[in-house]
Amino acid sequence: MIFVAPSLLSADFSRLGEAAAAAEAGGADWIHVDIMDGHFVPNLTFGPGLVAWLKKKIRLPLDVHLMVDNPRETVPWFLDAGADAVSIHVEATAHLHRDVRIIKDAGRKAGVALNPATPLSALDEILGELDYVLLMCVNPGRGSQPFIESSRSKIAALRGRLAGQPSGGPLIEIDGGVNAANIASLAADGAQIFVAGNAVFNQPDPAQAVARLKRIARSLDTP
Ligand code: DX5
Ligand code: ZN
Repeated sequence: MIFVAPSLLSADFSRLGEAAAAAEAGGADWIHVDIMDGHFVPNLTFGPGLVAWLKKKIRLPLDVHLMVDNPRETVPWFLDAGADAVSIHVEATAHLHRDVRIIKDAGRKAGVALNPATPLSALDEILGELDYVLLMCVNPGRGSQPFIESSRSKIAALRGRLAGQPSGGPLIEIDGGVNAANIASLAADGAQIFVAGNAVFNQPDPAQAVARLKRIARSLDTP
């Protein structure tokens, strides 16, 4: 299974609807929306209003990545706005199970995100509740950063850990530094959902860039 989830963080903020439509035309599977609160990460981005607008304009599932402190307060805003999948950071809440249940009880896909230095053991008691795990491969806060190579062993370790699960367990999403040169090997490491900002929206033709990333991830094309 290979999903590409273009991140609007690298798009032209004055034309976000067009950017999402171009990604959709290129065969994107999800649209990744990065929410930053200026506390959990040193940057500010979008609010639930953007998610509500996108929900009206595109058919693709909206994958909302909450880089916010106190997600208990903000998760319901994004559920109300129509988010199809919501991930929250394990580092951002003392009540991870409670906050994941809010997402699950609304009938949406629930993900938990881990920063690069957070060990996989942080998932021990929550894995069974999750639809996906988001492994950050850069320090969150901005796009176009280089992929942190030590993330590969984390991806492979999680893949190995999930291998024994009858249902296959949660999907593995990776975020940060994904590009045409590394996506095939990251798929081989075990990643399944690929967030890509710079590698889509800083390219001359974002729709073609999405299509190409998918072909390469499936090893149907060369980087
Ligand atoms: C970083 C965000 C990412 C970012 C990835 O904090 O969570 O989703 O947009 O951007 P690229 O693909 O450019 O590394
Ligand atoms: Zn993200």
